[in-house]
Amino acid sequence: MKPTIANDPTGLDPVDEIIAYHDRTKHHPERYARGPGGLDWSTQPNPFRRFDGAPMLRLPLAQRDDTPAAAILFGAGAAPPRPFTLEALGLFFELSLGLSARKEVSGMSWYLRVNPSSGNLHPTEGYAVLPALEWLPGGGGVYHYAPREHGLEQRARRSGDGRVYADGFWVGLTSIPWREAWKYGERAFRYCQHDVGHAVAALRYAAAALGWRVSLAPEWTEAQLARLLGVDRGEDFTGAERETPELLVRVRVNDLVGTAATPAADEPVEWFGRANALSPSHAEWPVIDAAIAVSERRAVIAEQPAARAVWPRPAPPPCTGSAGQLIRQRRSAVDFDGLTSMTRETFLAILDTTLPRGSAPPFDAWPFPPRLHLVLFVHRVTGLEPGLYLWLRAAADEEALRQAFHGVSTWEVPAHLDPTVPLRRLGRGDLREFARALSCQQDIAADGAFSLGMLARFEPVLRACGAGAWRELFWEAGMIGQSLYLAAEAAGVRGTGIGCFFDEGLHRALGLTGHDWQSLYHFTVGNPVEDQRLRTAPPYEPLPRTGYLAPG
Ligand SMILES: Cc1cc2nc3c(=O)[nH]c(=O)nc-3n(C[C@H](O)[C@H](O)[C@H](O)COP(=O)(O)O)c2cc1C
Repeated sequence: MKPTIANDPTGLDPVDEIIAYHDRTKHHPERYARGPGGLDWSTQPNPFRRFDGAPMLRLPLAQRDDTPAAAILFGAGAAPPRPFTLEALGLFFELSLGLSARKEVSGMSWYLRVNPSSGNLHPTEGYAVLPALEWLPGGGGVYHYAPREHGLEQRARRSGDGRVYADGFWVGLTSIPWREAWKYGERAFRYCQHDVGHAVAALRYAAAALGWRVSLAPEWTEAQLARLLGVDRGEDFTGAERETPELLVRVRVNDLVGTAATPAADEPVEWFGRANALSPSHAEWPVIDAAIAVSERRAVIAEQPAARAVWPRPAPPPCTGSAGQLIRQRRSAVDFDGLTSMTRETFLAILDTTLPRGSAPPFDAWPFPPRLHLVLFVHRVTGLEPGLYLWLRAAADEEALRQAFHGVSTWEVPAHLDPTVPLRRLGRGDLREFARALSCQQDIAADGAFSLGMLARFEPVLRACGAGAWRELFWEAGMIGQSLYLAAEAAGVRGTGIGCFFDEGLHRALGLTGHDWQSLYHFTVGNPVEDQRLRTAPPYEPLPRTGYLAPG
């Protein structure tokens, strides 16, 4: 029987179903979304998927940092494209989905990665679909990226190897929802989608450091993607957690050659390897299974593209280091000092990186119109009164938001601000307690310079584009989060994604009713306080790195 979410079993419209999932996975102060009620450490999922029996190509680790200045990550120019070599491919994965550090405390240790993840559980898996290249010993095919080994496990050899994707390659992302559900229960599928968005932006930023380009390929349905990546091969996942196909991006390594040949999902291939089991047993979360099924992208329904506002040239946050350094140093703040202010210029430069520009990462990879805006709680920004603000990422939505915010009577451009800057003041006041309470009582929402909620145009998008667009909204939120993480690092401060928040608390404060607008993700930025008990070690052993290892 098809799993359903809504209590009313007649309501089987996928859009109704995904809205029902969205509603039932809201946290409320008096009732959190249904979770496991405690952590079962005996089933803690392995954060590293491997395919036993698949040949592994170890990628080289960068020996020195020769990446360009970090400002190129924010649209200030572009690096000359690197030739497509094994070293360049290694750097691309190192700077997107690779490990960034090993943390140690009292005999325990864990890895951090370039891409963040809710609870550091890392549900996102990455695959490269590579053409035949002379430095690729296994030939063209499908490769799973193994971050701990910094290697590519060859899942498939494509027999149509004469087919060369002349200008680059493809990266597919999948989710293993169980990794998140183990800790977060029903709300976990939201976090999987945030993490996919972070990973897409991480891919785009890594490509920018190499002078490459990335674009999302929305024409792929999930069934085609599952086929291409081999995650529909039940026989290779016996006893192992299945992967949900999410999206495919195209990576262009040079602009000289014409359009890329699209890999064909139905090309005959030879498959290798069997997925490892990540936990010895699992709790069932049928509501997540249903959410996966109803939000499957079966076809792409084109939305009337919103008129893309032409934003002024980007104003990157002041930063001195290299792109590689900035990408590797990204961390989540676990605590802020509750004291330090930032200047209005820094604040605006950080927000500026979230604007969708056709010429700046990460949103030059994004094929959809911008659908999310930032509701800001400004605590400590010199030259800006504390209070409630709105950062409009699509100017065309201003009037609709103004009409929808029944609880807001002020709508003004802050004094002495360039009128082209899309910041509006909605109210003055000390919002530290409100922000803390809204973010499940987390101090990080109050103790930084500012925090925010990301508000998405919601039901109208789902009705126009189908239930699959629910995932896209979360991907966009994750991409905004990744741009905030990097912009904060560039400005000498630090950010943290906040997945635990009370959805309706923000809606009520703004006077929003219904599902036209929904808050999808929160974020905070400030001056971090390090946890002195933790030791930080490099993530990779200095091993002889490259080589093609046959299985066994
Ligand atoms: C979608 C998402 C939600 C998150 N939610 C929270 C949160 O509610 N509270 C928090 O302290 N950290 C949160 N984080 C930060 C993660 O805990 C952090 O990314 C993870 O521990 C890995 O650490 P790193 O970001 O330093 O690599 C979130 C991160 C993501 C990507």
